[in-house]
Amino acid sequence: MSGIDILGTGHYVPENRLSNDDLSKMVKTNDEWIFPRTGIKTRHISKTENTSELAYQAAKKAIENSGIDKSDIGFIIVATCSADNIMPSVACMLLDRLDLNNQHVMAFDLNAACTGFVYALSVANALLATRPDKCAVVIGAEVFSKLLDYTDRSTCILFGDGAGAVVVKYCASAKFYQVISSKGNTDALRIPGVPFYDCTEPSYCTMNGQEVFKFAVEYPSYSMQEVLDHLGYTMKDIHYVLFHQANARIVASVSKRMKIRQEQLYMNIEEYGNTSAASIAIMLDEMNQKGLLKKGMKLLLVGFGAGLTWGTIYLEW
Ligand code: COA
Repeated sequence: MSGIDILGTGHYVPENRLSNDDLSKMVKTNDEWIFPRTGIKTRHISKTENTSELAYQAAKKAIENSGIDKSDIGFIIVATCSADNIMPSVACMLLDRLDLNNQHVMAFDLNAACTGFVYALSVANALLATRPDKCAVVIGAEVFSKLLDYTDRSTCILFGDGAGAVVVKYCASAKFYQVISSKGNTDALRIPGVPFYDCTEPSYCTMNGQEVFKFAVEYPSYSMQEVLDHLGYTMKDIHYVLFHQANARIVASVSKRMKIRQEQLYMNIEEYGNTSAASIAIMLDEMNQKGLLKKGMKLLLVGFGAGLTWGTIYLEW
């Protein structure tokens, strides 16, 4: 088995915060409703910085943290569903700022909604096997706030902005296994794109909260179980589960179902809300900076989101 080594991590969130109390002045809601149902207290909301800026700041930190030479970078993958432009990609926008324009870099964005970072890491794993001499910078970055209707209390309370990044390299002795999947569903969670024909629909996020909740408790669990079964492990063998921070109640339900102990979980939803594709990457960096991750630790990275998309990656730190 071969896989990837994570050489460095970084994250960046806008300074501006939007608390539940702040939201209660904008829509008919309050902390007493939001916190028990979601685990969210506040979120970071960009005032002027776009997705490429957040992605750049996170990538810069991850590259510094990895200690690699920039000439080693062969791939930049940005998982996002809130890119600055439809084209060029956020990944291409980073090339200039990271001073990578004078070398061969395959740079592209990937949209798998909140599962984006899991998808991007899986793609990086496959690409690096073809270029073991190169590194990939894999970024999850979102300014989700620009896609929200701040008069719709059922969605605007959930999401926040942020970016996380990792630098990864092929490793012949690394263990990496994934079960990643998708199924077409445009009703549960959707943000319309460029208006087509005589469309009058606004470009905001709409969601069937209960449908998404049920999906989130069920499908990621299947992928986790399949990964564990393939590797011959039980949940007890896993050091940390980095479960997409969409809702603390979803994490609690999945933990009960999958027998994940509290100490196996890392949670930061209270501070950031749901940062979509950035969520797992931000967790990785925070855990790294706090010294929680020790060499050889067994990790499950679990994502789910619109598409519908979901998946679990097993890797060792
Ligand atoms: N503040 C106050 N009341 C609110 C509210 C808010 N922010 N949002 C909804 N309500 C109201 C509804 O209008 C409804 O009122 P009614 O009974 O008078 O009609 C009531 O609360 C219950 O609404 P419901 O949508 O059934 O709530 P819920 O218990 O399903 O919780 C979510 C809503 C969004 C917290 C929950 O469904 C959820 O977390 N779903 C998953 C969402 C998710 O994770 N999405 C991203 C996936 S990547």
